[in-house]
Amino acid sequence: MTGQTAPAAPSAAVSVDVPAKINPHLGVGDARADGFHALSTVYQSISLYDTVTVERREEPGIELTISGEGADILPRGDENLAVKAAKLIAIYGSVDPDVRIHLNKRIPVAGGLAGGSADAAATLVACSRLWEIEIGDAEMHRLAAGLGSDVPFCLKGGTAVGAGRGEELTRVEVGGSWHWVVATTDTQISTPECFKEVDRLREDGIGRFSADVDQIVRAFESGIGADELSRLLVNDMEAAAVSLRPQLASLMHGGLEEGALAAHVSGSGPTVLFLASDVKHAMALARRMRMRGGAKSVHIANGPVPGPAA
Ligand code: C5P
Repeated sequence: MTGQTAPAAPSAAVSVDVPAKINPHLGVGDARADGFHALSTVYQSISLYDTVTVERREEPGIELTISGEGADILPRGDENLAVKAAKLIAIYGSVDPDVRIHLNKRIPVAGGLAGGSADAAATLVACSRLWEIEIGDAEMHRLAAGLGSDVPFCLKGGTAVGAGRGEELTRVEVGGSWHWVVATTDTQISTPECFKEVDRLREDGIGRFSADVDQIVRAFESGIGADELSRLLVNDMEAAAVSLRPQLASLMHGGLEEGALAAHVSGSGPTVLFLASDVKHAMALARRMRMRGGAKSVHIANGPVPGPAA
């Protein structure tokens, strides 16, 4: 063996779990000159996770495989945000983007839970570890913001106020934990479609910009009970989501009839969140929602939970 170089040990795969996000407060302002809407939101990560696994491959290029939720409908090419994220971090680190990416999806797809943004955030973190790229917080945030408005929050998780188009974050230290039943539907709503519907309804005088997040931020900081939180939930996109998918109204109504403290469309929908008083209540509510029917799937989750780069 003298004089021979031992073959490089294959580098181990890197796996990163990343949680879904909800917006307990989602204030939507007017469309800006760049087409994005000004947001005043409070994000919170909840315990529904995708897992992104990356490993080096000998062949050039990126190979993406997907299992779980939406595996049959998600794009596997350059349109997938995980592929975009891998390319971006490879350029930043001046490495060849020769990587196998596997997404194991449990976050409902196109459901208003930022599953695609979560995968992008996790891919940035996983690839930076795989390729041992030194990158500071500010630079990671800049790359994430280039991928999508929700991606910076998905890196950090927890609870944060989001301004600008959602990417300007201020962390909130919370004093509690809250429990949700997450009901998905068999339809999808694309985010741009829902923003357009918000604009259309505004032209008809329906809806306003809920810009003030102070009350709910103070409530999270002080760890208020779920009862009080139920009165503070806001979503300026809810009317638009229900207008696009009227069946959401009966799903929301059904959850309230089964004892939820509040029904709240998640982001741009169509997933509906039902607030529960505690974990026992969430489990009982989920059971009743499953028996009642009307949702595609029913999960329980709690938040806040940390993101992959917390
Ligand atoms: O930022 P992201 O790529 O996730 O946004 C997807 C689309 O949602 C944008 O192209 C835009 O149409 C809409 N959007 C918006 N205002 C925001 C965020 C997203 O109008 N603040």
